[in-house]
Amino acid sequence: MSDLVIRGATAVLEDGTRRADIALEGERISAIGAAGSLPRGGREIDAADLVALPGLIDMHSHHREPGFTHKEDLETMAKQCAAGGVTTSVAMPNVSPPPTTAEHLDAMIETYRRRASFDWNVNASGVQLAEIPKLADRGILAFKIFMVVDTGRSYPHMPGIGLHEHGELYTRMLAVRRTGLPLMIHPHDQSLMDAIEREYWARGERDFRAYARAYAHDDGVIWDTAVAVLLRLQAATGVRLHLLHTQTRRVVEMLRAAKAAGQSVTAEANPWCFWLGNDWASIERLGSYALSYYVAPHHSAAVYEAFRDGTVDIMATDHAPHLREEKEPGWTDGWKAHTGTPSEQFYLSLLLTDVAAGKLSLERVADATATRPARIFGLYPRKGALRVGADADIVLADPRGTHTIADAEVLSKCGWTPYAGRSVRGVVRYTFLRGRAIYDDGRLQLEEGYGRQATRAAGHAA
Ligand code: DOR
Repeated sequence: MSDLVIRGATAVLEDGTRRADIALEGERISAIGAAGSLPRGGREIDAADLVALPGLIDMHSHHREPGFTHKEDLETMAKQCAAGGVTTSVAMPNVSPPPTTAEHLDAMIETYRRRASFDWNVNASGVQLAEIPKLADRGILAFKIFMVVDTGRSYPHMPGIGLHEHGELYTRMLAVRRTGLPLMIHPHDQSLMDAIEREYWARGERDFRAYARAYAHDDGVIWDTAVAVLLRLQAATGVRLHLLHTQTRRVVEMLRAAKAAGQSVTAEANPWCFWLGNDWASIERLGSYALSYYVAPHHSAAVYEAFRDGTVDIMATDHAPHLREEKEPGWTDGWKAHTGTPSEQFYLSLLLTDVAAGKLSLERVADATATRPARIFGLYPRKGALRVGADADIVLADPRGTHTIADAEVLSKCGWTPYAGRSVRGVVRYTFLRGRAIYDDGRLQLEEGYGRQATRAAGHAA
């Protein structure tokens, strides 16, 4: 007898969406059959009104541990993941000490092994050339380089994890290519941004509006120039380039052209690009609480279209919690506030709201949040799809359930969400991680240390 049968869910399977029973045994999916066809399990869940999706794989999340646990820690991350349908969440390297060396990465991995109750990995920093081969040996899925280094504040883009000189990028790309792993890059034209910032500051413009406009200056010039360089360096080095924070029309055009030319490039979209930073009214209302970045509506629309058609491959959260006291200075000086917004807990609901509105298909949601990340970063077929033999990482959500997001329900340490007050349609009811219900009809059931490093599936070449 299987341990559990999810009965009659509208299941997004690899060969289509249909009503199905899904049986779980131990940590794996043991059978998938037509609704009502599988024998009884030890536990039965009536999922006739629910959709079943593969557990979300968030390849870009700022977990903050070690070093910034006043903002977030692995326990609060786990709660948000479970409530948000995320079964694998991968950390970014702007922590302290940062995983720029094998020694630091080993310590970070040890902390995760002991404490994480979601499946995890770490995108190691690709800044220190000599460390790249050693870091690649630790079961990581990708490297990360920030091209941005903060001016006027020391976080989130602290010194030591960013570089932007073309020669430096070139040598890191060659080294990462030798490992076979993808290289994630946060595109940013630092020298151009320095000049643009000086123009704003010379005019006495420093508030949140100035910050938003400076980053979006001249229709997104800092993003466009950075991506143009990165794509050319990709061609020169052959590295598997993964572009972060897709947010301009021209970047989308360059990405399409690069893919059409056969270049090895993939890209992510972030929730703030579609549902937050694209609305100037949100910026006026929330100030730096709405920023990551301002994305003008024509850019957001272009990225959305490319996200729908898969040119922009995946959605990853860029979950970036900061305390209120770290955000407040941003009303008068945008360069003093810590930039970024939390979203791990709610992004599936935001996506499902667009599905309910007919803007996005359920299949593309599963593809962008689970299957494609798993394929790009080597977790497939162990993770990323509802298939027999795969890890039983499953989300059950009520697609008709409505809910108004509120600060009071926020499980992040930061205690706020920029999405407060927003009505969503699509509510997570159950999250299973390797067979265990970590979110069980609205109840969190987490066990410290249950989480495992999500490494490349056997036979998946790096
Ligand atoms: O807005 C951001 N916040 N962008 C990043 O690149 C980092 C992130 C953070 O860690 O807070």
